[in-house]
Amino acid sequence: MLFVLPWAILSGPLLAAVAPAAAQGTSGIDPAKPDGGVSVYPFKLNQVQLTSSRLMDNQARAYSYLKFVDVNRLLYVFRANHKLSTNGAASNGGWDSPTFPFRSHVQGHFLSAFAQCYAVTGDQICKAQATTMTAAMVQCQNNNAAAGFGTGYLSGFPESDFTALEARTLSNGNVPYYCIHKTLAGLLDVWRLTGDANAKTALLALAGWVDTRTSKLSTTQMQNVLGTEFGGMNEALADIYFQTGDSRWLMVAARFDHAAVFAPLAANQDQLNGLHANTQVPKWIGAAREFKATGNATYRTIAANAWAMTTNAHSYAIGGNSQAEHFHAPNAISGYLTADTAEGCNSYNMLKLTRELFTLDPSSTAYFDFYERTLMNHLLGQQNPSDSHGHITYFTGLSPGVRRGLGPAWGGGTYSTDYDSFWCCQGTGIETNTKLMDSIYWYDNSNNLYVNLFAPSRLSWAAKGVQVTQSTSFPNSDMTTLTISGSGTFGIKVRIPSWARGAYILVNGVHQSGITTNAGTYAQIPSRTWSAGDIITVRLPMCVHTVAANDNANLAAVLYGPIVLIGNYGNTALSSAPTIQLSTIKRTDTATLAFTATANQQTVNLKPFYDGQGFNYVTYWSISGSALGFQSWYS
Ligand SMILES: *[C@@H]1O[C@H](CO)[C@@H](O)[C@H](O)[C@H]1NC(C)=O
Repeated sequence: MLFVLPWAILSGPLLAAVAPAAAQGTSGIDPAKPDGGVSVYPFKLNQVQLTSSRLMDNQARAYSYLKFVDVNRLLYVFRANHKLSTNGAASNGGWDSPTFPFRSHVQGHFLSAFAQCYAVTGDQICKAQATTMTAAMVQCQNNNAAAGFGTGYLSGFPESDFTALEARTLSNGNVPYYCIHKTLAGLLDVWRLTGDANAKTALLALAGWVDTRTSKLSTTQMQNVLGTEFGGMNEALADIYFQTGDSRWLMVAARFDHAAVFAPLAANQDQLNGLHANTQVPKWIGAAREFKATGNATYRTIAANAWAMTTNAHSYAIGGNSQAEHFHAPNAISGYLTADTAEGCNSYNMLKLTRELFTLDPSSTAYFDFYERTLMNHLLGQQNPSDSHGHITYFTGLSPGVRRGLGPAWGGGTYSTDYDSFWCCQGTGIETNTKLMDSIYWYDNSNNLYVNLFAPSRLSWAAKGVQVTQSTSFPNSDMTTLTISGSGTFGIKVRIPSWARGAYILVNGVHQSGITTNAGTYAQIPSRTWSAGDIITVRLPMCVHTVAANDNANLAAVLYGPIVLIGNYGNTALSSAPTIQLSTIKRTDTATLAFTATANQQTVNLKPFYDGQGFNYVTYWSISGSALGFQSWYS
């Protein structure tokens, strides 16, 4: 019987209607130009608050690290390079050490994370961390003449690295524009989210330096420069165009369009094999931003094709991609299940790309089916929950019996540290965990609220005069409720994930038989005037299903709804994927996602991928018995 009504949850007293609380944090400074071509919009960071959940716990750990970190240490390589006093601060280790080629890449991530922390919560410590850094960065730029650098230059390594880059003689392993991209993005976030004037000053001066430097190069010279990893320079410069309205920055952005990568993508040819994966994804985000700025449809095609190729032919069941940081042949998955799979940055960037594409095509749930899978498995589990500073792993291993936090150096899965790692993934990790709420709710041009993710949270939608409170223990429970306070008129579109079977919706306890709730569609709750205390209940029944490696139907991950279930192998070392009897998988607890199964004739405990810390785990199994449910992700 499919439509068993969950009377238990509706029999209690209705939540008392309360007036919408004022949003915390800050709405920031709107861009001068809106995105073109979009029909659905995110809410501002301060309009959505997480409430108690694993997501919120991750956020709290990230905040605690952000408030702890000594920004004078983060400024060390900048001040030293720009010939200013380092104020007695210690230098950092890892990728920010004074001898590391691309030191000063991580500070931009911190700026973004500080700004997001402030935007969400109004936290003054996060804001002060950001503004201390931007004030010092302006001082660094002001000393450029004395330091022998061009106007606006800002980095932790000498400008001569760019001379060598342009001459194709750079041999020290530096990726200088990669660092400049991070700094631009961080300064832009501080400017637009906190209103800090120094951030704007430093940003526009550095962007001006980029313009001056690149304007001197021929097209061929510039394309050669793009042969070295350069992050999302096209993205950051397009964003500066949106923020300022000055089309100068669009012209500079287009200099960073990497023809060798864009041309095959525009022709829908998958030539990703062998490319460094995270070097590419930011360029695709940039292409999406350039489409929204220019209307040139080729940019949109590039971004959409790259997304489809990567998610369908290069991604693991947890949503991550890459092995040893690289793409391999399309659908080559089973031969690459190693300890150094799924670099964290790639998923952070793929989720940004997913957001960009969703706003262009909100009719398909494929974008948020992928988003949910990647966020709830790869990125949620990337952080160490027993570390109060929320340190993360660089890779997320998928070999049989791999363990997070163990392994050789940074490459094998050790956790980041306060001052001695500063890897790229530590930077994207603090960004991810300070904006976990940014994609739960959206609104469109047709008076609809979109509910894309199922997470305890509160939306303050001042334009409609309502607050929407989502209560759920998802994914432990397959039910979520949206309670309205205030009163407003709008429709609601609820993502019915591709994994859901027999989903249904109740409004104030009444089953909405007229609302289509097919998996892989947005269920439309028609517009009405909602009143305080109205409750929408969404039930998204989950089942155990498998997601096979694209190139081996007998090697598969086991999922419950969107959640990958891993086997807990304690301290046991494994040399190959155990064979799991699919028919033996049983849930053993209603409150948590605890399951047991028989694998290699032994009972094994299964738990969510995001809880896979502190023991050896198995993600991909050799499967025995017919695969339950369905195999496909998106169709
Ligand atoms: C659109 O963008 C593509 C990709 O960068 C470029 O090759 C093409 O010249 C652009 N078209 C126009 C009309 O600007």
